[in-house]
Amino acid sequence: MKKITIAIDGFSSTGKSTLAKQLAKQLEYVYVDTGAMYRAVAFFAMQNKLIAADSFNKKALIEALPNIQLEFKFNPNLGFAEMFLNGENVETQIRTIEVSNYVSRVAEVSEVRSKLVEQQQEMGKNKAIVMDGRDIGTVVFPDAELKIFMTASAETRAQRRFDELQQKGDTVSYEDVLKNVVERDYIDTHREDSPLVIADDAIEIDNSYLTREEQFAAVLELVNEVVKTA
Ligand code: DC
Repeated sequence: MKKITIAIDGFSSTGKSTLAKQLAKQLEYVYVDTGAMYRAVAFFAMQNKLIAADSFNKKALIEALPNIQLEFKFNPNLGFAEMFLNGENVETQIRTIEVSNYVSRVAEVSEVRSKLVEQQQEMGKNKAIVMDGRDIGTVVFPDAELKIFMTASAETRAQRRFDELQQKGDTVSYEDVLKNVVERDYIDTHREDSPLVIADDAIEIDNSYLTREEQFAAVLELVNEVVKTA
């Protein structure tokens, strides 16, 4: 069967990674969560006191970029790859609300973006990849054979993220999660470099009222159609 590149973009907490993981498993493709890479850089900036609520030393972060080594390592027990920052597994640390609060500002920095985009293009050079993010169909793989753009209302997405954080024992309020979702949407769609936009040839899926199974079945059908004609 012909191997293709699948780009999944969309707003935060639209279930991009759930869909991407399901597809990668079914098709035996590599899955890359590019948000984890931006989150790891944000975590590095936090650890090194380069970013805080009221300050961001962009210049120092840009200078430190050569010292940031990112790597995905597949964990067979979990069934997906975990993010390693300079050799340390940071999969748990990068999913906190603190990192979510800082990551969009870090992702606005062009130097950060070009470093990560280069690494992402290298990972996808042999196709057979499902990559999710904000600029995959527009910047990273503009020639991807299948581009999906996922949306859902901010309230639906905040509720999903809130439930997820609660399950992990995070004591954050729903209002704070909603605020974070709305703020990130704004920054992600308004930044100068690679703003979140729908690619002309992307297929938009609003999953506010779709179950995971319904969504997966619909996208799998699209994959099969594309593979036939690719
Ligand atoms: O998908 P996520 O919520 O884990 O992504 C975290 C942040 O990273 C998101 O607010 C925007 C940024 N991001 C980006 O700018 N480009 C990508 N390809 C992926 C994520």
